[in-house]
Amino acid sequence: MFTDVDGGNILRTLSEAKKTYGNDIVFLCSFSNEDMIIFDTICRNDLDIDIYTIDTGRLNQETYEFIDQVSRDYGVRINYLVPDADALSSMLANHGPQSFYESVEKRKLCCKIRKVDPLSKLLSNKKAWITGIRSEQTIERKNSSKVEINNGIVKINPLIDWTYQMVLKEVEKRKLPVNKLYKMGYRSIGCEPCTRPLYPEESERDGRWWWEGSSKECGIHTSNLGGGS
Ligand code: ADX
Ligand code: SF4
Repeated sequence: MFTDVDGGNILRTLSEAKKTYGNDIVFLCSFSNEDMIIFDTICRNDLDIDIYTIDTGRLNQETYEFIDQVSRDYGVRINYLVPDADALSSMLANHGPQSFYESVEKRKLCCKIRKVDPLSKLLSNKKAWITGIRSEQTIERKNSSKVEINNGIVKINPLIDWTYQMVLKEVEKRKLPVNKLYKMGYRSIGCEPCTRPLYPEESERDGRWWWEGSSKECGIHTSNLGGGS
């Protein structure tokens, strides 16, 4: 299995990962600040790692505009993972378009259909994926490391031990494009109905699924992906 080569160097980590997995590695990009650091590293260095975004159909308009902008400016092709049409129409017919506000089960069903299942399907044909998660984001992510393996799929998290301040510094240093949502008070980029800007005293995940008590995960980082979730 791939093991990290260098404590802090994203480029070396990604280059080695590409050497190890060839076309069987993908980068999952939500176009957050974290992901733009990885995106920029892949594109500027021609690492030839395919970039995927999960288009839940419910992302913010600002995010769709940002995807258009950066794919044009970097001249890179973005691949879109979309929900299974039958599963989506059945959920909408049975529960309506806003069922995620009604119960945790219905919210998780929506995340499963719009995010987890499309990703799981992609990973069932891949060996490794790259993400922008950081350990300080959620309780679950505290136990993650830079390279992990789950269900036979390797997950590489180059920024796992970065703080948000380090992310901001790197974004500034590289003069990276930034999703407009950050200027509007968002600290995390997700689906429009399930993410809101933060109040000053809140921590970065408080804007996700804020009407629920504790859960701050949609399932893509907590499910057994690739072999049926
Ligand atoms: S989530 O599970 O709560 O939605 P979060 O927004 O923190 O995840 O993002 C963490 C990482 O998950 C991102 O850096 C990215 O690798 C991946 N990710 C999350 N949402 C998407 C998405 N819509 N498309 C592609 N990757 C995503
Ligand atoms: Fe559905 Fe909200 Fe999950 Fe997006 S974050 S998939 S809209 S429940």
